[in-house]
Amino acid sequence: MTGWPTTLGLAAILVVSSALGVEGAWHEGKKTAAPAMAQQPCAPKQPCAAKQPCAPKQPCAAKPAEAKDKAAEATFKAYTGWKKVNDKPVLSETHGNRWVFTYLNKKAESAGLAGKFPFPEGAVLAKESFENEGGKPGAKGPLFIMEKRKKGYDTANSDWQYAIVNLDGSVAMSGSGKKGSSTEFCAACHRAAKVNDYVFGNGTVMKVKPVKLGEAPKQPCAPKKK
Ligand code: HEC
Repeated sequence: MTGWPTTLGLAAILVVSSALGVEGAWHEGKKTAAPAMAQQPCAPKQPCAAKQPCAPKQPCAAKPAEAKDKAAEATFKAYTGWKKVNDKPVLSETHGNRWVFTYLNKKAESAGLAGKFPFPEGAVLAKESFENEGGKPGAKGPLFIMEKRKKGYDTANSDWQYAIVNLDGSVAMSGSGKKGSSTEFCAACHRAAKVNDYVFGNGTVMKVKPVKLGEAPKQPCAPKKK
């Protein structure tokens, strides 16, 4: 009859698109640093669209409700004052081929440094990232966070909460490792490091058993080698 339903449909799509996080950029290993890019994760050539294998169901929808994460916001503000545990820089192919540096909050320190797992409730690991520019850390990228929640939060995955915080402090993605969660893929890979309570610790002074990524599910969203 009228064009209304279509118009409304379009409007709804626009609203949904604007609620998206950096996931697309993450998967492509692109310059997430550009905030404009972060707002456009479902642009034509990005893998989140259609057959995106990395996330269940609706890969691009960082559900607005989920993307509220007070602890992640607090971590973003505080982490630079925490203990930096890298003893060497790590170029992380699995995190968008970025240079990464890990920080532990007070509650994570004793478990991480002594290798006494599991981490206690309230432990937070923050991973700062920088774009790879000519083999060196360049522009700052998103912050990756693991926060140990209360027992029972996600029993099957050791009660970790995963989050990504954008450069401007907004939470791009947040959730558990449960099926259907937007961060399920984080846990799916980190599970390979179960021996260290889901923490890899590559390049850090944390007392971890080294875990080969080959034992993890292949990362289908890793950036293509140039
Ligand atoms: C395909 C594997 C893979 C995926 C997917 C993945 N990670 Fe990681 N993560 C790693 C590896 C390997 C390390 C160790 C350092 C490195 O090489 O980057 C790591 C390190 C970390 C660390 C520092 C603590 C540690 O384990 O050393 C945090 C925090 C982190 N990841 C958060 C996340 C979040 C949040 C997500 C999802 C949004 C995620 N990761 C998805 C493999 C993965």
